Amino acid sequence: MPAASGVKARFEGVSKRYGQGADAVQALAPLTLDIAERAFVCLVGPSGCGKSTLLNILAGFEPPTTGRVLMDGQPVQGPDPRRGVVFQQGALFTWMNVRDNVAFGPLATGRSKTEAERIAARYLDMVGLASFAKRYPYELSGGMQQRVGIARALANDPEILLMDEPFAALDAQTRELLQEEIKRIWHETRKTVLWITHSIEEALFLATDVVVMSARPGTIKATLRPPFALQDDPALVASPEFARTKAEIFGLLREEALVAQRQEAER
Ligand SMILES: Nc1ncnc2c1ncn2[C@@H]1O[C@H](COP(=O)(O)OP(=O)(O)O)[C@@H](O)[C@H]1O
Ligand SMILES: [Mg+2]
Repeated sequence: MPAASGVKARFEGVSKRYGQGADAVQALAPLTLDIAERAFVCLVGPSGCGKSTLLNILAGFEPPTTGRVLMDGQPVQGPDPRRGVVFQQGALFTWMNVRDNVAFGPLATGRSKTEAERIAARYLDMVGLASFAKRYPYELSGGMQQRVGIARALANDPEILLMDEPFAALDAQTRELLQEEIKRIWHETRKTVLWITHSIEEALFLATDVVVMSARPGTIKATLRPPFALQDDPALVASPEFARTKAEIFGLLREEALVAQRQEAER
């Protein structure tokens, strides 16, 4: 059920500290962030600022140290199939073919074999891999493996997709094509998405909301709402408006990256 407020997920005063005493790391300062229903939120920030921590808390993999996370107004208390997670790489079952990888979730939640295979076929078609159903992960390129990962997450029909640098390990051309594909899939399914990326261009191309995080302890430094996510033309990245927004985010990020660099040097 969508929340009446239009807020799909909410971080309320969430902070995270790992470890105890002198070895403790304050990964996140108390922060508050709303993710609107159907938004495509891209999280950018310097390395080590707590982006994955934030995502893992919403996924239910890690409890917050303070505060709470709500989805549709209900506290997150652990992993839930309503939240689909895609990692940077490698989460496929190597011993299963592509179709069985995608059918795994639906089968695990009680669908019949026929039904699960029908669902797998639908999402493999959506990511352009219908003809690779009988292949094994090792037979696929990195980009194709990521597309299987995305199909597998979608096959569970999650309400929110959590993606931690899903394209970081791919070459630039593959990444750009997949970005177009993701945009098309998002327009088609209108899932709520939380997406972590190092790439400002990727964030600008995909996001309804770009959330810029500060250096550790991570907090929300700025939120921008660029118009490009709703535009289809891949050439929009060449527009002056795109360049101007890119420069703005670059400036925000650079300040935080310098802070993060000093932190590294002092360790
Ligand atoms: N399980 C953990 N135990 C201890 N420290 C951790 C753990 N996970 C992350 N950290 C630390 O928390 C900080 C934030 O990490 P992370 O959320 O992975 O940042 P990001 O994804 O932005 O690079 C880093 O200093 C990292 O070393
Ligand atoms: Mg990370």
